[in-house]
Amino acid sequence: MIIGSNLLFFENLPSTNTHTAGLLKKNNLKEGTIVYTNYQSAGKGYSGNNWESEEGKNLLISIVVFPSFIRPEDQFLISMTISLGICDFLERFIPDCSIKWPNDIYVNNDKIAGILIENYIIGELIESTIAGIGLNINQERFISPVPNPVSLRMLTGMNYDLHACLLQLCGNLDKRYKQIIAGDSIQIKKEYISKLHRLNEWCKFRDSNGIYDGRILTIGDYGRLKIEKRDGETCEYSFKEIEFIL
Ligand code: BTN
Repeated sequence: MIIGSNLLFFENLPSTNTHTAGLLKKNNLKEGTIVYTNYQSAGKGYSGNNWESEEGKNLLISIVVFPSFIRPEDQFLISMTISLGICDFLERFIPDCSIKWPNDIYVNNDKIAGILIENYIIGELIESTIAGIGLNINQERFISPVPNPVSLRMLTGMNYDLHACLLQLCGNLDKRYKQIIAGDSIQIKKEYISKLHRLNEWCKFRDSNGIYDGRILTIGDYGRLKIEKRDGETCEYSFKEIEFIL
């Protein structure tokens, strides 16, 4: 086992990602180390947003990996791998989930997990990656309305043992990580695309030119999202260049 081979628990932290970055600077952390906590006072989301999580209710973890076998231009492979590992875990309990590009995990139209990946690249090498995951398990009410949070408990009415969930999640992530170590990135990309939220469905998007009808076709190089417009034109976007109108 790589992911989950070393578990470091802290009762509370400002942010597991920030704390892990500090530990990495000072120590030789074993690959696969997981830093996890019951409460974050400054949990980081994408775009400087705060990540909401009630104390002791959800999984708040950061994983350390050293994916030097992945070229920096292929770093989206790490996002795809982590997203699929979380879906594998969730599908133990619910029939289906999807990935809202680039790496929000959704059940129907609600977000159950967020991922914050921080890659440390030196020259042509991804020296280390901290993959932060916030996975909503037992929380029943959320204060922040956006982006439509949901938890396993809200979906199934059941309460879950957080430590058992952590071990199961590690197992699923480890399996996926070993798949990319073995060089099976084509399969990872294929499965990631097949799980994309709203794949091939006509819906509304907003880019720098305004709102339009489009449908997601696939993922291009560097993890860019390929969308077809009604007139047949196809466009490719990097993160933040395109917004889904829910
Ligand atoms: C998002 O905005 O969707 C990404 C959210 C990522 C939240 C997790 S919680 C554990 C880890 N530590 C952080 O500070 N953020 C990530």
